[in-house]
Amino acid sequence: MLAIIGGTGLTNLPNLEITSKEVVRTPYGDPSGYLTYGRIGAATVVFLARHGYGHTLPPHEVNYRANIWALKSAGVVRVLAVNAVGGVAANLGPGMLAVPDQVIDYTYSRKHTFFEGDAPVTHIDFTDPYCARARALYLAAAKAASIDVIDHGTLGVTQGPRLETRAEVDRLARDGCSMIGMTTMPEASLAREQGLSYATLALSMNHAAGLGSSAEGIKLADADAVLKVGMEKVKLILARAVEMHAAMPADVRGYK
Ligand code: HPA
Repeated sequence: MLAIIGGTGLTNLPNLEITSKEVVRTPYGDPSGYLTYGRIGAATVVFLARHGYGHTLPPHEVNYRANIWALKSAGVVRVLAVNAVGGVAANLGPGMLAVPDQVIDYTYSRKHTFFEGDAPVTHIDFTDPYCARARALYLAAAKAASIDVIDHGTLGVTQGPRLETRAEVDRLARDGCSMIGMTTMPEASLAREQGLSYATLALSMNHAAGLGSSAEGIKLADADAVLKVGMEKVKLILARAVEMHAAMPADVRGYK
């Protein structure tokens, strides 16, 4: 099955015909909310709101392990995530979309692995943090929906919930980050630990601090307005992606 993890600005899918809701308990605690099962067209999908359905969980308090565990135990093989980000690269101004292919993780103190305690010592390969097949699906869906999406990019993941300083954004840019978000890690690596095919669609809702229209600070009301409009595009892409995923042979729906 395909899962969608919605981030900031995406707590429901309007075109999802809901069939059931399931509260899942996991050995790692409670997920951000119930799993919402439903259909988009003929395809079945499960939706989870990363920050809770009322957007009550900040990035550092999301129980990423419980979320991924719950989806895995529901029979999910692929996760299409959505992240709101700040744009660092010149071509990632507010409203632009990207399917990043790399990550730099600056987060700390998050429960970031299933392999601890009594679990056997296990190192996952994370050279390419996103599944190539899931990325290709996102890109093809965007093309089918005639929506511009930037292919590639490095998503720097900060701890939040505060936004960055100018100096931090300078450093992130020097490190090679083209965008900054707060939630793709440890979500992506936990998905890999569970063998899930995982990719994210990033929506730039603001220029990162100190850049462009954020030169004198990030105007949160403006960013919220961009988010609203941008998420409509995200929903169109997701609808196509769900259809395309359902039409794939079963052996290419998972992680490669
Ligand atoms: N920085 C980090 N995370 C974000 C930003 C940002 O500027 N905008 C949206 N999520």
